[in-house]
Amino acid sequence: MTPEEAKIRVQKLREEIKKWNYHYFTLNEEIFPEPARDQLKKELIDLEGKYPELVTQDSPTQRVGSELSGRLNKVNHKTAKKSLDDAFSLDELHEWEQRIQKFVPEEQIDFVVEPKIDGLNVTVWYEKGILIKALTRGNGQVGEEVTHTVKTIPSLPLKLSQELDLEVTGEVFISKKDFQKINEAEGTDYANPRNLAAGTVRQLDPQMAASRKLNLYFYSLGENNLKVQPDTQKETLELLKDLGLNINPEYKHFNSIQKLNQYLDHLYQIRDKFSFEIDGAVIKVNQKSQQERMGYTAKTPRYSIAYKFPAEQTSTKILSIEVQVGRTGSLTPVANLEPVQVAGTTVARATLHNQDEIDRKDIRVGDTVVIQKAGDIIPEVLEALTDLRDGTEQKFQIPENCPVCSEKTIKPDEEAVRRCINPNCDAIVKGTIENFTSRAALNIEGLGSKVVNQLVDEKLIQDAADIFFLQEKDLLTLDLFKEKRTQNLIESIHNSRLVPFGRFIFGLGIRHIGTKTANDIANFLSTKVDLQTEQITDDQATDQLLLFTNNTATKEITYFPLDQLSTLANTLTEEEFAEVDGIGSVVAKSLKEWFSLERSQNLLKKFAKSKLRPLVNPDAVSGTGKLSGQTFVFTGTMNLGREEAKAMAVANGAKVASSISAKTDYLVAGEKAGSKLDKAEKLNVKILTEEQFLNMLNA
Ligand code: IVH
Repeated sequence: MTPEEAKIRVQKLREEIKKWNYHYFTLNEEIFPEPARDQLKKELIDLEGKYPELVTQDSPTQRVGSELSGRLNKVNHKTAKKSLDDAFSLDELHEWEQRIQKFVPEEQIDFVVEPKIDGLNVTVWYEKGILIKALTRGNGQVGEEVTHTVKTIPSLPLKLSQELDLEVTGEVFISKKDFQKINEAEGTDYANPRNLAAGTVRQLDPQMAASRKLNLYFYSLGENNLKVQPDTQKETLELLKDLGLNINPEYKHFNSIQKLNQYLDHLYQIRDKFSFEIDGAVIKVNQKSQQERMGYTAKTPRYSIAYKFPAEQTSTKILSIEVQVGRTGSLTPVANLEPVQVAGTTVARATLHNQDEIDRKDIRVGDTVVIQKAGDIIPEVLEALTDLRDGTEQKFQIPENCPVCSEKTIKPDEEAVRRCINPNCDAIVKGTIENFTSRAALNIEGLGSKVVNQLVDEKLIQDAADIFFLQEKDLLTLDLFKEKRTQNLIESIHNSRLVPFGRFIFGLGIRHIGTKTANDIANFLSTKVDLQTEQITDDQATDQLLLFTNNTATKEITYFPLDQLSTLANTLTEEEFAEVDGIGSVVAKSLKEWFSLERSQNLLKKFAKSKLRPLVNPDAVSGTGKLSGQTFVFTGTMNLGREEAKAMAVANGAKVASSISAKTDYLVAGEKAGSKLDKAEKLNVKILTEEQFLNMLNA
């Protein structure tokens, strides 16, 4: 970045942050997530650090807090209300600790940690023990008088247990439950409890405030006429409590920063368990004598820092956009990002979903955007911060030709996604084979996407069936394939030939067919042919395979004769498919389409020549399976693997559902079962351990 570019960027960042602050602090609205604002502020601090000549008095990095609204009285604070520096990671916390240690060399530092409630900062004045004023922080020097609303807070004493003059500061908040209730009951649309608390305190009607269940926890002591001053933050909190002022009961004291780090990790894990919303923790040096030696920077105390939890949203820049082609030919635009930390991991790519989304959100290459990464969900771009544009941003259009095979793509009107329909497209061929070897399908160990790519690139395979004709000498020509690895792969391919029929059908990668529908289809097809049997050896006879025998003594497994599949499937009509339990019209159409393709017919014929034995449990097919007619749900971690357990249930005729409902007969709960277990208990669904489930099968 040139100094000229930096100057423009700094100005734009300031305007955007000021706009956000104004909406947040003055209007009690959130125009985009707070962590995204924090990231902009971080960028601004970095740039001002690099180009100190750009720092101005009115930069949001130099000022504390909010604009003031016109409605309420302005009052000067007795002592300036500073703000806190933020630490966004344990590394930054460590750097802070090293900085402050320099002020108290060789001394042990102990800390107090208070959960950081996301609420509204309020200072209350008592004179001779009587509450006389309550102020918001405002801009730190001047606050707004909110005595009329703060006085309605039930837990706040109007008179202290001693006749003292005190200035005390704390956080006004509303519990998560009451926040929800109020939004529902009053039909309001506050983004979070913090906004509701702030909006309630900063309005004129005390009646309204009284109805909204505000709460207040105090954490600091300002001017006072106490005879003996507390020596530590811990003593301060206990003193406030003794005077009848509420403090956060969840505060903790630590003698070392290591223990503190562990606690912060723990606090992050349990953050949802609190009745109030917390967005981190405030860490304070406990000893006042040490606090005094550490002192203040222009706007913050050095002895305290706000540790912010890893946020699920943040802001960053789109460097470029590329288009990925999935196994169904779908073209997905993916943004390459300036890497940022989100929810504890570094994110460098995020999905833009499709062209409609790009257009609707007006997202361009070069934009600063808000991104989100929640749980296991793929990171996504939420919105563009268009005010930060400098004119160099470029609109993006998904090309009409496939970026992998260059063939023309199609965009059906009723679908959001553009698709490549060239069945020979490398991306589709590779994706389809990967799906076939994946865990939910044939589960062939050692045949992940890298190896599949290699095999296709070297023209050793062209479709999934070719896998079964691979020979050692073929694999040995590949990079990194020595004898051992080659033998292992050949062996796992061989073992995978005994696969539940439903998983084979799923592996074909027919559109709209998930694992459950695939099982329904497999059972249906199995009623249309004479099933065959084959003897397996003793060491092949695992518990799972024995599920597919009628006779455990002879170890004869039952399988679907693949040489009949292509003809059978081709004679079945769409209507016949649609009549099957669990198959709707979309699936029926998709099945019919797939089976009538010449390419599918050829594939099935090739499979027929392999030694593949799609396993069928005759009882399940005829409806006399041990679990026929019962609906199961599986949750938690299981020894045999949850997918395996599900497959066993299905093989025995059970239906497997993904969520608990009144129709569920059994929940099989492994370790660390969560909300499904709670729900099952509520609905009186029978709960089984993994062992009890296996006993049921072997009974
Ligand atoms: S101490 C010198 N302690 O977080 C500033 N602040 O990011 C004294 N907050 O303005 C602040 N819980 O509104 C402190 N236990 C706590 C807090 C807390 C929430 C808020 C407070 C402050 C902001 C700073």
